[in-house]
Amino acid sequence: MASTPRPFSSLRCIGCGRGYPLGEIRYECEACSGLLEVVHDLDRLKKSRDGAAWRRLFDGRMGVKAGIHRSGVWRFHELILPDLPEAAIVTKPEGDTNLYRSPRLEKESGAACVHIKHEGENPTLSFKDRGMSAGVSFARHLGVDLVACASTGDTSAAMAAYAAQVEGMRGVAVLPQGKISMEQLSQPIASGCLTVSLPADFDTCIRLLREVCRKRPVYLLNSVNPVRIEGQKSIAYEMLQQLGWEPPDWIVVPVGNAGNISAIGKGLFDLHALGIIDRVPRLLGAQPEAAAPLARAHREGYRERVRVKAADTAASAIRIGDPVSYDKAVAAVRRSKGAFLSASEQEIMDAKALVDATGVYICPNSATAVACFLKARGEGIIGADEKVVIIATAHGCKFSQATIDYHGGRLAGVVPGRANRIIELEADPAALERLLAPGGGAASRKDGQ
Ligand code: F0G
Repeated sequence: MASTPRPFSSLRCIGCGRGYPLGEIRYECEACSGLLEVVHDLDRLKKSRDGAAWRRLFDGRMGVKAGIHRSGVWRFHELILPDLPEAAIVTKPEGDTNLYRSPRLEKESGAACVHIKHEGENPTLSFKDRGMSAGVSFARHLGVDLVACASTGDTSAAMAAYAAQVEGMRGVAVLPQGKISMEQLSQPIASGCLTVSLPADFDTCIRLLREVCRKRPVYLLNSVNPVRIEGQKSIAYEMLQQLGWEPPDWIVVPVGNAGNISAIGKGLFDLHALGIIDRVPRLLGAQPEAAAPLARAHREGYRERVRVKAADTAASAIRIGDPVSYDKAVAAVRRSKGAFLSASEQEIMDAKALVDATGVYICPNSATAVACFLKARGEGIIGADEKVVIIATAHGCKFSQATIDYHGGRLAGVVPGRANRIIELEADPAALERLLAPGGGAASRKDGQ
C-alpha cells in the first residue's frame, strides 16, 4: 500500500511553539491565542538542493509563457506552499512587478542606490494579489465556498477578484465607511463580492469579523491567516531575483496591519536558511504619524504593546491603530536589526509628488515608505553607501483624489510644495498658443517640480 508522503509544511504558534496540521482551519493558537505561522521542513528542502541549485531552478523559470511558473508567486512554489497541488492554484498571474532604479531619490537622499519595487503593477493594482493568490488557492483546496476579509480597500479588491475566478466561491468584504478610496470601493462591487460597509474604523471591522468567523464556517482571508503570508513573502524572493540574488542593505515597507513586513521578513530568513542569499537586509517599517503604534513602540524600546486610535490620513490603507500581525512584525524587524519610523502628512504627500513626477505613480501609503526612507537617511540610520529597496504597495491610480487634492492645494494641513496645478483656459486656440509661446508658462519643468 502506498503511504501518504510526509507533508513539508505545518502551522506553529509564534508564542508557545505549539504545532497544528496546515489543513486545520485556525487563525490563532488554542493554548495561548498567539499568532500562527506556516513552517516548512527547511532541513528537507535544504537536503533537496543547495543555494546555487535553488537559484538556478528559479532563474530557469523566468520568462516562461504558460503554466503556474509565469506567476511571481508560484515560480517559487516549493518555498510558498510545497504541499499544495498545482490543480488548486488560482493565479491571474500576479507578481513580476518592475523594480525601478530611482536616480531622483538617490539625488534627493544622497544614498548610493535606491530602487522602488512597484507592487501597484499587480492585477488588482496592489501587493495584496500575492497573498490572496495563496489564500484563495488554499481555500479552494479546502473546498471552502465563503471567504471574507475586513479591509482598508486593497485586501477586499484582491480577495473579490480571486474568489471571482473560482466556481461557487463567494467573497464577503467588510469595509470602514467613508475611509477607503472610491476606486478601491468599486473593486469588490465590480467583482460580485458581498460588500458590507460599517460605520466603524478598520480595527473595529476586523474585530467584528474575527468574532463571526469563530462561530460560522466563513474562511477568513485577512493576513492573520498564515497562508496569506506565504504568498506575500514572494515580494522578497522576486526582488532578490531581480537583483541577481544580491541583497540590498535595507528594505523599506509601509506598515498597516503589519502582515506584509512580517511576510517579507519570513521570506528573507527562509532564503538565508536555505543558502539562497548570504545575508539578510535590514527592515524599515513606515507608518503615518496619524496611525503609528509600531513607530512609537520602536521609540519606546518595545517595552509594551502599543495600540492607538488611528486618526485620518491620506495614507488611508494604513490607517490602523492595532495591527493584527504586531508581534510577527516586531520580531521580524528586531531580528533584522531594523527600525520603525513615522512621517507627517506633509512629508508623505511631498514624497509622493517627488516620486510621481519621475513617472512612477505611487499611492500615499507607498509614499509613507519614501518619506520614512528620506528621514532615515537624514538621521543617518541609513548610510550614504547603502543600497535600498522601497516597496510601493499600490498604484497611484487607486488614490486619485489624494493626488488631485494635493496638486490643487486642497489637502488640509498640507502645503503643496511640489504642486503641478491644472491650468484652466478658454476653449480658444489663441489662448493655448499664448500659453505655449516662449515665456508663456509652459517653460521646461523645473527639477523637483
Ligand atoms: N499599503 C497598502 C496600499 C495597503 O493596502 C496596505 C494594507 C498596506 C500598505 C499595509 O500592509 O497591512 O500588511 O501592513 N492594506 C490592508 C487592506 C490592511 O485591508 O487592504 P500590511
